[in-house]
Amino acid sequence: MSNTFFLNGIETPFTPGQMILDAARNGGVEIPTLCYLKGATPTGACRICLVEVKGARSLMASCSTPVTTGMDVLTDSELVHKARKMNVELLLASGRHNCLVCESNGDCRLQDLAYFYKITNLRFPQKENIYPTEDENPFIVRDFSRCILCGRCVQACNEVVVNRAITQGYRGAESKIVTGGDNPYNESECVFCGQCVEVCPTGALTEKKAKGLGRPWEVQKIRTTCPYCGVGCQQWLHVKDGKIIKVTAVENAEPNQGRLCVKGRFGYDFIYSEDRLKTPLIREADGKFREASWDEALDLVANKFKEIIKSDGPDALGGVSCARSINEDSYQMQKLFRAVIGTNNIDHCART
Ligand code: FES
Repeated sequence: MSNTFFLNGIETPFTPGQMILDAARNGGVEIPTLCYLKGATPTGACRICLVEVKGARSLMASCSTPVTTGMDVLTDSELVHKARKMNVELLLASGRHNCLVCESNGDCRLQDLAYFYKITNLRFPQKENIYPTEDENPFIVRDFSRCILCGRCVQACNEVVVNRAITQGYRGAESKIVTGGDNPYNESECVFCGQCVEVCPTGALTEKKAKGLGRPWEVQKIRTTCPYCGVGCQQWLHVKDGKIIKVTAVENAEPNQGRLCVKGRFGYDFIYSEDRLKTPLIREADGKFREASWDEALDLVANKFKEIIKSDGPDALGGVSCARSINEDSYQMQKLFRAVIGTNNIDHCART
C-alpha cells in the first residue's frame, strides 16, 4: 500500500504533501469550507472543514492536515456534522448576520451552511459589534458586523495579489481585519483591486456601486474579456435589466485565475457616461469641433492620408492602435498600414 488512505472506508490515492481536503475532493468527496482559499497557505481559521481521523485526539481541519499513508478519515460522521454545526452557530453569533438586508443574501457561504444545518435559532449570545461600517472610499464597503474573521481577504491580499495592505489586528473579542495603522482603505496601501471582496464568503466586504441594484438571483451573469489592457482577463458581467451592476472575476480561467485589477473590476462606468462620444467630431478652421457622419469623417481622413503620401511618401504616416482593441482589430490596423498605406510605422499604445 503506497500513497493511499481510507476516505469514508474507501481506499483512495493521494499525492504526498496533499491536504485531506484536496485529496478528498480529488476522490469525489466534498467537504464544506469557509476560510480555505485555493492557492493560498491554509490557515485553519474557521473549523468548518473538520473531519474525523481515526486515532487522532480531536477532529482535524482537513484544509490544513496533510494526508499520510493508511490514514483513516471520516468526512460524514455524526461527530463531524455536530462539530461543524456548532461552529456555524458560533460564527452566526459572532456578528449581525441579518440576511434580509444583506447585499450578499443569496451569495453567502455562511448562509448556505446555516441553511444546510437547519439552524433557525441563535443558541449562543450574539456578540456586540464594536466597529462602525466603513464606506468612505468609492468602491468597497467594510461591514465589520458581518465579518467572521476567516482571513480569506488577508490571504487574497497578501498571497494572491501580493499587495500586503491588510492583516489580522487586535486580539480576542476586539479582533479585526486591519490596514497598516488601522486606517480606512482609502488612507492605506490598498490599491482597490477588490480581490478581498471577491473572496469574502459573507457580506462583510461588498461593492459600493452595486449596493441595492440587484440581488444575486436577479442578475444574469455574462462571461466576457476585460476591455482594458491586452492581458485578456476573464470576467463576469452581472447584468440586471440590460445594465451592468457589478463585475467579478471568472475563477479557474486563464489568464487571470480569478483575479482582476481596479480598472477591470470597478472601471465600467464609462459605458453609461453621458460624456461618451457617440459620433465623429471634425475640428473646423476656428478650432471648434462639430459633429459629423462616419462617411464624412472617414472621407476626410482618407483624403488627408492621400495628400500626405503624395507629398512626403508613406513613411510620413504612422499608426498607433488602441490597447482596448481586440486582436483582430489590431491585426487589421497593421495590415492597413503595411499593405495598403505601405509603411511599417505601426505600433500599439500600451508600448508607448
Ligand atoms: Fe478548513 Fe476553514 S476551511 S479551517
